[in-house]
Amino acid sequence: MRTIDWRDGRIVAIDQTRLPHEVEFLEIETIEALVAAIRSLAIRGAPAIGVAGALGVALAARLHGDDPAELHRAVDAVRAARPTAVNLAWGVDRVRARLDADGTEAALTEALAVLEEDARCCRELSERGARWLVETVGPTVAVQTHCNAGALATVEWGTALGVVRSLQQHGALGHVYASETRPLLQGARLTVWELAQIGAPHTLVVDSAAASVLAQGLVDAVVVGADRITANGDVINKVGTYPLALAAARAGVPMVVAAPESTVDLATPSGRDVTIEVRAPEEITALGAAALAPRGTETLNYAFDVTPADLVTAIVTERRVILPAAGGRPDDPTERP
Ligand code: MRU
Repeated sequence: MRTIDWRDGRIVAIDQTRLPHEVEFLEIETIEALVAAIRSLAIRGAPAIGVAGALGVALAARLHGDDPAELHRAVDAVRAARPTAVNLAWGVDRVRARLDADGTEAALTEALAVLEEDARCCRELSERGARWLVETVGPTVAVQTHCNAGALATVEWGTALGVVRSLQQHGALGHVYASETRPLLQGARLTVWELAQIGAPHTLVVDSAAASVLAQGLVDAVVVGADRITANGDVINKVGTYPLALAAARAGVPMVVAAPESTVDLATPSGRDVTIEVRAPEEITALGAAALAPRGTETLNYAFDVTPADLVTAIVTERRVILPAAGGRPDDPTERP
């Protein structure tokens, strides 16, 4: 099952807001619906929204190919749907360039190539990540993860959870600790759902227990995904990743980031230069209809945080392993196998 795909001129995507209760697919036929799906996190996770951006340009070309101004507006709207994950702009720009050069059918071909590449890259980086972990921490690896960097966040297989799946396939997976990921609970709703689907032994903890899990020696590695990795090796990922990295450093546990090269943004020097999405107060002041805080409470609902490069032990992509804490940088052309 693919999280996102192209079928009969439409974008078909699993509605991640309905999980874990219902597995439902959205059939997206308009740019407005696509932008709404990305903003509401029905389609979420950096690689998945990169593919949504790519398919969105193909959809826009079909809908507005005879109206350049409208086409331009539609493509810009998709690109601006969320600011932090570089994959969205990357997917849009790649297909827009092909559209400008070769037209509507070529744009669809390019978008489908983005989709297929994501599926392939996730498997490759997961294998590399699993191998690196077994070589570095030992034959059985207990993992702590945050948010959801699984099949749902990609076309299939996943990045951080892809590494977990590869470890499992090699008989090298210990236990998995998943933090719930306030306020939208991607860990509790999505990661735990995926771990149950694949039969991986797992335990859910509240975000504020993550440091204690590390301190008690329950895990051998933290493995997370990323929304953007800057030229110096800073990692932007779901809010809560930075505290996890601090706790991992204190506990002497490797902090591993699994992401495709499409998440690496060499044009941005450091995490300080990245726009961190701030989301609506209601996400933290209410749970459905139930109020969690007094009406009108001021909030600062950061969706992401920046983990400085010196706290990142390894970044694993489909092409290489970068070791930022040891001085490695994504913009260094020297590659490790
Ligand atoms: O706000 P979200 O749910 O889109 O945030 C997603 C994350 O932070 C993921 O960890 C990241 O996109 C990597 S997904 C392979």
